Amino acid sequence: MTEIVLRNVTKEFGAGDDRVIAVDDLTVTVQDQEFFSLLGPSGCGKTTTLRLIAGFERPSKGQVIIDGQTVNDIPPNRRQIGIVFQSYALFPHLTVFENCAFGLHARGLPEPEIQDKANEVLKLVHLSEMADRRPSQLSGGQQQRVAIARSLAIEPRIILFDEPLSNLDAKLRVEMRGELVRLQRRLGITALYVTHDQEEALAISDRVAVLDAGRLQQVGEPWELYEHPQTHFVADFLGRTNLIEATVVERQANSWLHVRTASGLELLAGAGRLDRTAGQTVWVTTKAEKIQIHPNDGGGVNLIPGTVTEVQYIGPKLDLSVQLDDGQILLTSNEPTLELRRLQRGDPVTIQIPPEMLYVI
Ligand SMILES: Nc1ncnc2c1ncn2[C@@H]1O[C@H](COP(=O)(O)OP(=O)(O)O)[C@@H](O)[C@H]1O
Ligand SMILES: [Mg+2]
Repeated sequence: MTEIVLRNVTKEFGAGDDRVIAVDDLTVTVQDQEFFSLLGPSGCGKTTTLRLIAGFERPSKGQVIIDGQTVNDIPPNRRQIGIVFQSYALFPHLTVFENCAFGLHARGLPEPEIQDKANEVLKLVHLSEMADRRPSQLSGGQQQRVAIARSLAIEPRIILFDEPLSNLDAKLRVEMRGELVRLQRRLGITALYVTHDQEEALAISDRVAVLDAGRLQQVGEPWELYEHPQTHFVADFLGRTNLIEATVVERQANSWLHVRTASGLELLAGAGRLDRTAGQTVWVTTKAEKIQIHPNDGGGVNLIPGTVTEVQYIGPKLDLSVQLDDGQILLTSNEPTLELRRLQRGDPVTIQIPPEMLYVI
């Protein structure tokens, strides 16, 4: 049973004009055996958070608590945590086997036990045959698997991943992320994964925390973050997102919110913060694939006229940029039906946002 709790953790670097708040009053719990990701743009504090948990940094304020014990003063080598870095950080002069055995030697285990454990983790990542090679004789994906095996050899109670797949090409990245999750499930180990890649975070995580400038924006299951963003930042960061600023006109009896944009566009929103009251300024948001295209103009609410300004055919989807009369551009992404494939730049088009797909923040 291993749970990580960060309680009001702040980490500052430097002083005066050089002061940086890398992590800002972060409170979050990673549950036992959970695959939990920290997601956010470069510089938002992901690596610093991992280093605080691993013990390479000490919080300026707050507590890092592992299994109920505050570990602020416990050195890294006594935290039983495995780490996998983006750079692999393998020892180039050691063989694959020796890389895996290194941490076990450092812990002073008896030789037969070291042999057993190193062999066992190499088997786990399907690299037993490569035991005698040096890192330079392996592909990038294999090197990353050695790094994972090495981190598991010490039988950690937690494994931390810092953008471990970013040096691999796109196809291998997708394969490896599946492998990682299967391994984590099999071992039942608590995992904290850091990435700036939203698709990766959504694909592999039980839950995700989105960070911006050191601050927690939202924690939730992948679908919650994608479908029910609570902040402008989260809405914008995940998926291909449309965000429209509007003023609440009234709450309707059917519980939809009637809003009006600055240019006078009237919309009905049927999801999110529907408790907003008349006069309030809100953001309404919808993902590109929720917008429907009606080249022939159907009936109903939230029908918006516009002009196609960009057409991108990407196989499973046809992406259109549609400029509204007020100049705002909305992104759409739909199945490339025969009808849609006829559309060209400059064509007039009517789009429709189903109210239940228009989300109020
Ligand atoms: N040792 C350090 N000294 C000074 N500033 C640092 C240090 N480590 C990180 N930072 C700053 O803290 C912020 C967060 O960095 P980091 O945690 O590496 O972000 P991420 O991993 O999300 O890209 C950045 O502004 C970074 O420049
Ligand atoms: Mg980082």
